Amino acid sequence: MIDESFATMTLSQALTLDLSEQRVVITGGGSGIGRAIAEMAVASGASVVILDADVDAIGRLPATGQLCAIHCDVADADAANEAVNNAATMMGGVTGLVNGVGIAGPTMSPDGISVEAWRRTLAVNLDGMFYCTRAAIPWLKRNGGSIVNLSSAAIARGGFPMRLAYATSKKAVIGFTETLAMDLGRHAIRVNTVLPGTVEGDRVRTVIAAAAEASGVSAEDLWGDTIAANSLRVAVEAVDVAALVIFLLSDLGRLITSQSIAVCAGFEGHRSQDQDPMASGR
Ligand SMILES: NC(=O)c1ccc[n+]([C@@H]2O[C@H](COP(=O)([O-])OP(=O)(O)OC[C@H]3O[C@@H](n4cnc5c(N)ncnc54)[C@H](O)[C@@H]3O)[C@@H](O)[C@H]2O)c1
Repeated sequence: MIDESFATMTLSQALTLDLSEQRVVITGGGSGIGRAIAEMAVASGASVVILDADVDAIGRLPATGQLCAIHCDVADADAANEAVNNAATMMGGVTGLVNGVGIAGPTMSPDGISVEAWRRTLAVNLDGMFYCTRAAIPWLKRNGGSIVNLSSAAIARGGFPMRLAYATSKKAVIGFTETLAMDLGRHAIRVNTVLPGTVEGDRVRTVIAAAAEASGVSAEDLWGDTIAANSLRVAVEAVDVAALVIFLLSDLGRLITSQSIAVCAGFEGHRSQDQDPMASGR
C-alpha cells in the first residue's frame, strides 16, 4: 500500500533539484543552450563559471555572486587548462563540467571542405572538450562529480548530409563520453552525452534563412519541414535541454553514466541531402 505522504507529493516537489553544493564549469555558457544551462544551474543554487570566447556574450550575462565568466577559446590547450583551473580556484573546486561549446562547421559537399575549416571544427568541438575535461578531472576526483557533453540529435540516427566535419565531431563525442565513463567511474565521476534536437534561437534562425536562400524555399516552409521531422511536431527550446543537463548534474542522476540521451521532440532522422534542404545548421 502506498504511504499517504508519498501519494500527495506534487510533481514540483518531486523534481526540486538542490544544486547548492555544486560548483559547475560550463563552456559555451555565454549564449544559447549553454546560457540556459547556466541560468538554471544558478537558479538551482549552484556556483557557476562560464568559459566563452565571445566577449560581448560575456558582457550580457547577469551580475550575480553565483556566476562568473572567463574569456577563453577552448581550442587553445593552454588557455583552456588555465581557465578551468582558475574557475576551480574561484569556486573552491569543481563538481560538474558541462562541455557546451560547439560550432556548426562548413555546410558543403565533402570534397569542398578546406583543411582549415575541417581542423577548426574538430579543434573547437572535440579538442576543446578534451582540454577542458582533462583540466577538470583532478578537481572532480576529489569528491566525484558529473560531466555532461553536448552532441547533437542530428547524428543520433545516422549521418548528417553536407555536415561532415560537424557530424564527425559530434559522433566522436559519444565515444569520448563512453570511454571517460569507464575510466572515471571508480572515482565516482559520471559522464553522459546530451543530444539536443533543433533548438529555437538565433543559431537555427540564421541557418534556416541561409538554407532557404540556397534552396529557393521560403524560410517559413523550411521551418515547417524541420518541425515535421519531429514526432511531436514541435521545436525544442534551450530550457528543455537545460532541464536534462541539470538532472544529470544533480544527485537524482547519481546512477546514470555512459549514456547518450536526446532532447529532440522525437527527431526521426535525415533524408539524403537532395531531399532535405534543411541538412544544415543543427
Ligand atoms: N542549437 C541547436 O539547434 C543545437 C542542436 C544540436 C546540438 N547543439 C549543440 O549544443 C551546443 C550549444 O549550441 P547553441 O546552439 O547553444 O550554440 P550557440 O552558438 O548559441 O552558443 C555557443 C557558445 O559557445 C561559444 N563558443 C564558440 N566557440 C568557442 C570557443 N572556441 N571557445 C569558447 N567558447 C566558444 C560561443 O561564443 C557561444 O556563446 C553546441 O555544442 C551545439 O553543437 C545545438
